[in-house]
Amino acid sequence: MPLSLESVLTQHKKAGLYRVRSVLQGVSGVQRIYKGKTLVSFCSNDYLGLAQHPDAINSFKQTVEEFGLGSSSSHFLGAYSRIHCELEEALAEFTGYPRALVFSTGYMANLSILTALLTRHNNVFGDKLNHASLVDAAKLSGASFKRYPHKKILSLEKLVTSSPARSFIVTDGVFSMDGDLAELPDLIAIAKNYSATLLVDDAHGLGVLGKKGGGISEHFGLKPDILSGGFGKALGSFGGFATGSEALIENLIQFSRPYMYTTALPPAVAKATHTNLRLLQKENWRREKLISLIEHFKCVAKQLELPFLESLTPIQPLLIGDPEQTMKLATYLLKKGFLVNAIRPPTVPKKTSRLRISLNALHSEKNIDSLLEQIARGLKSVEYSALCCAN
Ligand SMILES: Cc1ncc(COP(=O)(O)O)c(C=O)c1O
Repeated sequence: MPLSLESVLTQHKKAGLYRVRSVLQGVSGVQRIYKGKTLVSFCSNDYLGLAQHPDAINSFKQTVEEFGLGSSSSHFLGAYSRIHCELEEALAEFTGYPRALVFSTGYMANLSILTALLTRHNNVFGDKLNHASLVDAAKLSGASFKRYPHKKILSLEKLVTSSPARSFIVTDGVFSMDGDLAELPDLIAIAKNYSATLLVDDAHGLGVLGKKGGGISEHFGLKPDILSGGFGKALGSFGGFATGSEALIENLIQFSRPYMYTTALPPAVAKATHTNLRLLQKENWRREKLISLIEHFKCVAKQLELPFLESLTPIQPLLIGDPEQTMKLATYLLKKGFLVNAIRPPTVPKKTSRLRISLNALHSEKNIDSLLEQIARGLKSVEYSALCCAN
């Protein structure tokens, strides 16, 4: 007999995997208020601190006055406006692709791409640590789907060589829970050698990597066939996109169901995103400050002998292993005034629960020093070594 809904939840709790949404109030810079207490947040993906930029807020307000709150229908039924069109043109120019397409979320961008382009006659190969949206997209596409061990290029090559059908390779650009980068040069070489198509989801790289914020492509000076991403990270907004060739984007417009059968992004959100895309290019100090904070973080973590994973990005994970221990440490930090995400399965593989520290251009070095000091104390106070749990 299947378990009752209540028993499912009880089991989930027992496994230490129960998720609770903290109700936060008052948002300003990196501060959040939780149960009346002001906390410094290390949870946000708004890496450049653009979500509260006055220019973005003004753009939003002015566009709401003109267009109203919602977009009122889907793209084909009257919602596609000059605001959406201008954002797509600006994205294409920024990423250096012929065309771009805006989606209501980054998740939907990935679903759209793979379900529109693949059939059961194709193969899709994805990195084991890809974001859930790429995994779900591959499953929904109906293609044969196989995953290769994280960044193991030789394993990927074996899969591609043994595939008679046209293959798609899909990967995160910056892995969202580990903060490391895909080996873009190797992936591009394999795609080229075996006539496969490479899709890179650069949700966490765009705006952060590269001198001009051009993301993983600028970092390596190379471009995958298709790039996707979201506006909810460094762009400090909401929504998603795909960029690629003229024919690719036209195929997505014609055949992607998640694009066709959904309400378009509100124009005010599209306009504020466009404003932030300009700011991301203009206000270089944000990226430069973020990079210097990442360096500072790594240096202090090393001095304190904290075993963070190797990452050049604002995503700095501390592997703990056990989900309950991870929650204990996050709760300890909450008491000390820091909001830090505890990440557990199924978001990450079993036995790799972790704290995911997310750095932001609005943090100060003092914020970082205090957090790391508390992590060091917290690790001692909960009486275990993160290193031993991670092994
Ligand atoms: C790598 C990656 N891709 C896609 C998404 C989904 O983007 P969105 O939140 O816009 O749906 C996320 C995060 O949420 C992500 O981390």
